[in-house]
Order: sequence, then C-alpha cells, then structure tokens
Amino acid sequence: MPSTDHFKRLLVTSALPYANGAIHIGHIAGAYLPADIYCRYNRMKGRDVLYICGSDEHGVAIMIKARQEGTTPQAIVDEIHPLIKSTFKDFGMSFDYYGRTSSDTHAQTTTEFFRALNAKDTFVTKTDEQLYDPEAGIFLADRFVVGTCPNCGHENAYGDQCENCGTSLSPLELIEPRSTLTDATPELKETTHWYLPLGDFQERLETWIASHDDWKHNVLGQVKSWLADGLRDRAITRDVPWGIPIPEKEARQAGINPDGKVFYVWFDAPIGYISATREWAESVGQPSKWKTYWQQDDTKLVHFIGKDNIVFHCLMFPAMLMAHGDYVLPEDVPANEFLNLEGQKLSTSRGWAIWLHEYLEDFPADLLRYTLASTFPEAKDSDFSWKDFQARVNNELADVLGNFVNRTMTFAHRFFDGVVPPLSNPGGMDLDVIAQLKEFPTTIGASYEQYKFREGVFHTINLARIGNRYFNDTEPWKSAKSDMEKCANTIHVSLQICAALATLMEPVMPFSAARLRTMLNLDSEYRSQDTASTQSIWDHAGSCYLESGHTLNPAEILFTKIEDEAVQRQIDILAQRSSDAEPVTGDKSFADGKDEIVYDDFTRLDLRVGTILSAVKVEGADRLMQLEVDLGFETRQIVSGIAEHFAQEELTGQQVVVVVNLAPRKIRGLVSAGMVLTAENRDGSLRLVSSTGENGAVVS
Ligand code: MF3
Ligand code: ZN
Repeated sequence: MPSTDHFKRLLVTSALPYANGAIHIGHIAGAYLPADIYCRYNRMKGRDVLYICGSDEHGVAIMIKARQEGTTPQAIVDEIHPLIKSTFKDFGMSFDYYGRTSSDTHAQTTTEFFRALNAKDTFVTKTDEQLYDPEAGIFLADRFVVGTCPNCGHENAYGDQCENCGTSLSPLELIEPRSTLTDATPELKETTHWYLPLGDFQERLETWIASHDDWKHNVLGQVKSWLADGLRDRAITRDVPWGIPIPEKEARQAGINPDGKVFYVWFDAPIGYISATREWAESVGQPSKWKTYWQQDDTKLVHFIGKDNIVFHCLMFPAMLMAHGDYVLPEDVPANEFLNLEGQKLSTSRGWAIWLHEYLEDFPADLLRYTLASTFPEAKDSDFSWKDFQARVNNELADVLGNFVNRTMTFAHRFFDGVVPPLSNPGGMDLDVIAQLKEFPTTIGASYEQYKFREGVFHTINLARIGNRYFNDTEPWKSAKSDMEKCANTIHVSLQICAALATLMEPVMPFSAARLRTMLNLDSEYRSQDTASTQSIWDHAGSCYLESGHTLNPAEILFTKIEDEAVQRQIDILAQRSSDAEPVTGDKSFADGKDEIVYDDFTRLDLRVGTILSAVKVEGADRLMQLEVDLGFETRQIVSGIAEHFAQEELTGQQVVVVVNLAPRKIRGLVSAGMVLTAENRDGSLRLVSSTGENGAVVS
C-alpha cells in the first residue's frame, strides 16, 4: 500500500473551474468529489491537510461568453465566481480556501513566477504568422477560431482542441478556419510570443514520471504517449485583451511588444494553486505559511483533475515547477476519466448535463455524493443515470444503511430507554462481528489511499450490510421477550457499528454522518476520547468506543426513498432541455428527395399561419399532442405526433404553419382538422416551422 506516512503534510488541489458557467455532475465526478473524500478521510486520519481550489477566471471561453452576453469578462466572472463558490459549499466541498485568479495576489504571484523563470532564461521567443480576424482586429487564439479537425473531420473543432476526437490542435492546423467572433475568414499576421520549450524538460520529465510508475494507468498512458511524441514548445502568452498583462520591461528586452499581450490561461491558472495558498496563509494570519506547503520536500502534493487536464498537470506545470526550482512536484495526479449521462456524452451546449445547483434544489447533497462516488469514472468512462441514482438511494442508502441505523435506534429507545445497553457474556456472533468491525477503518482507508473511491464506498456500505445481517441473525425482537442480556448485546454491538459508520461514512456523506452523530449524541471529542495519542478519529472508529450508559438522542430517518415521479421529472427536464439542442452523435443523413411535382400540385395546399392556444398530451398515447390552434378565421383542434419532442408549456403561444385543407380524420377518438408543419433534424429531433405572420395569413 503506498503510504502517506513519510510525508508530513498533504497539499491537495482540485482543478480550478472556469468561471464561465455553472458546475455540473461531470466536473464533480472528475476533479471535486474524489478530492473532497480524500481530504476528509486524511483529516480524520489526523494528517495535516490543506485543500485548495478557486475559480479560473481568465481564458478565451470567458471572453466569448462576455461577447455573447454583451458584457465584460470581469462582469461575467464577478457573477459566476460567487455562484460556483456557494454551490460547492452547499455540496459539502471542504476547501480550506477557494480563491480566484482575478485577484491581485494572483497577478503578482504569476508575474513573480514568470520573472524567476525568465531570469534563468527558461523561455524562448518566436515570431510567426497567426490567424487574425481583420473585422474584429484581434488574433484568433484557442476558442476564438473554429474549423474542420484535420484528424477526424469534425466541422466545429476549436483552435486549441477538437472536442470530438480529443486531439489538441493549434489554430493553424484547422481546415477552413473561421472566426467565432465575426465568422470572418482569418488572415495570417505576424506576432511574437514567449514559449516554454518543453523539449528542454523532456528528459527530466521522463525520469520523474518513471519514478511514479504507480500512478493510475489512464494517466500514465496519456503522459507516456505525449512523451513518446516528443514535447514541443508551448506559447505562454496570447494576443487577447483579457488576462494578466505580461511585464513590460522583460517583454521589450526580449523584443516583444507587450501591448495587448497577456499570459496564456494555462500558464497562470496552475499558479493559481500557489496564489490561493498564499491568500489562505494571509487569512489565517501566517503569511509565510504557504511556503511550508509548497516548498518543503516532505509535502505530498496531489492534483485532482479530469482527464482533459492531464498534459497540463503532468508535464507543463511540473516543467514550470522544475524550472523554478523552489517547489515540490506533484506526488500524484489521480485524474478521472469522463462521466456520461444516461448513456450519452455530457454536453453543456446541448443542455445534456445536470447542474449541481439545480440538483441541490431537489435532493440532498449526500445522495448524489454517494451515487457518484459509487460510479466514479476511475479507470474508464462511466455513466450516471437517474434510474441508477434512485436504485442506489432506495436499495442501498435507505434499505441497507438507513434501515440498519433506524432499527438499531428504535430498539435502543424501545427496550433500553435510549441508553447504550451493556455488553455482557457476548456470544460467538457478537464477538465475530466486533472482530470484523475492527478491520473496517484500515480496509476503507486503504482504498482511499490508493484513490479507489468506488471500492472505499463499497466497503462502507458493506459494513451496514454486515450490521443488518447480524441484526437479523441475532433476532433481538425474539430475545427482547426471552433473554434481555442477549438483546442488550445485539443492540450494544449494533450501536457500535452505527458509531463506526458515523465516522467512516463521513468522507462520502458528511451531512448524513453529522445527523447520525447527533442521533448517537457524539461530538468530535467523544469520537476521539480515550484514544492513545497515536490513534486518529478514523482508526478509532472500529474500536467499539461507545460506552455503556451513554445517552442517545431521538431517532430520525436518515434517508428517504425517492419516488418514481421524482425521478421521471428529472428525466423529463433533461429530455426537454436537450430537444432544443444540437444533434447528439454522428449525423444521420436526411430523407431522400421526393419526385418532382408541378406548380398546381403545390397550390392545392392551403397553408396558413396559426397560434397554438393550448397543448395537452393525449392520454395513453406517448406521441400525441392535442392542440387548439387559432387560425384567425376559426379555432381548430389538431392532433399532432409531436408529444415526445415538445413539452406542453413550450408549445403554447407558438406561431406555426398549418395545412388547413387536409381532410379531417379521427385519431384516438379525437378529430384532427389539419396538420402543423415541423422540420426534422438529422438526429430525429423536431423543430416547429414557425412564422411571424398574422393568424390566418396565407403561406405560399
Ligand atoms: N479551468 C480549467 C478547466 O476547467 C482547469 C484549470 S486547472 C489549473 O479545464 F491548474 F489550471 F488551475
Ligand atoms: Zn477531431
């Protein structure tokens, strides 16, 4: 087992999320929840842990959002940073500090870091031609330019990466590039930038990576393939108007015109971990304490990220740290793969995502924490589905863990006045389960130490399973009538398991763990009392530390089951949102063209503008919607096969084009007098053929 013990402290980071949009479950499953579980576990293990995160507020994505919304990048991040921060808090993220990269400390730290590297001649300058948007008067870095991917042919690949095949690209590699700002075809124009010559670090990086052959396979796989390709120079500056300005003096010395140049977001963002640590140190009144975490060899630095960030955290940032020389290097980068949703890739632009703040309006944080942790994409992509969520909550949390706690507490109150009964003359089953219980802190801990969170969570729920089995096998409902000593033993031991769970479930479900501790009347002092100074709260958990005679609080239901309707509502929301969006997977082709007709064939159709007054799903028919349409001269009932594509509310008030002289017919007993025109996209999704004419206006 890789041990943490020769390290004196842990510095843990989660990737700084871009402040251009809300947090969704994909983020959570990748970089956040695993890190939070890890930190919570390690704190209970008695280790010195500092957990750092913050908002990544630079970069082109934020500028694009600002343009779309007709505002400034600063206004965007000022709005989104606090939202992300509070959503994380509601989800139970236990950051010691959550910073932001628009802070002064960060600009200062980045500039200092740059200067230290520049003083050692780390960078090279290069002048070359780059894509320039003549209409916007701006160089088209990264996401300012889209075009066809040279690797897979995807038509909307970005200037820095193709999201379809994952290849990292440079704007010049795009086929038929266009500006995302103006749609203009870019020109080539000369510009000079600083580059980090990663090739100079190739050998050192290889040696360093080789000394970490225990890293996760998915991470090592990517890193080794980058190394095998040979590392190329990476520009660390950009010609864009948002970011940390590059220092003027050094720029001029290097023959770079500093006007309009800022650091590349991937240069400043990882330094954000350092600046946030500095701000944390200030906030606790020990301004130089950040150095202990970043600059002392006995720190274990762990970066939690999603797989799209691997190259930056395993090669680029380490090279920067190596170049500097004063810093520790990451000890591990346990990147996760991607989480899919209902069998499809997450996509924020298509609305195919679950937003964390929306989730939290409907369900408690712990239910999602548990479900995600049980299905983290640790070794390969995994899937979240609402049905699975419901099944895990109902069958595991409610039926196993909640039920075990509940029956134990109920018996303790009913038969022992809410006081922990004594253990006397324990039988074989009692002793056996006590022995098993002792192993759990180590077993679960070993999983967490190795970043096997799914396994750790599985062991945790397994302890409750063992508890339930023991409860069944010892039959306290029988012994309560015949053998009170035996009954007391069962409840005593069951309560010890509950107390263990109150600690061991905390990394995954901190809110429910706190409620369980309240029921058991345990404060943190109690949890660690009587421990030899060497034993942590975590290790103490398995030692049957509840004393006989200890008074319990009233029982509460720990987990409520989720009804089918609640889950169906979520599935509907998802379907609705994504029906407005772009096609999901590979484009199917449109239907074949039809035979030619003469003009008169066309004029026989009477097409009119109408407004949908109401839309009601036809009961018992999934596809059918009963519409009332105002055609100006009259109101018609039309039954249309569009119910799978539109929600009732979104249809009402829409202006559409209607074929009004189609002979009426009966559908499911309802008269349908006409037809509403729709357009079918290649992915099968429908759009209404809409109009802005007056009701009754002739369409021709
Ligand atoms: N904002 C980046 C992303 O969401 C992650 C930045 S991580 C850091 O992909 F190291 F740069 F901070
Ligand atoms: Zn591609």
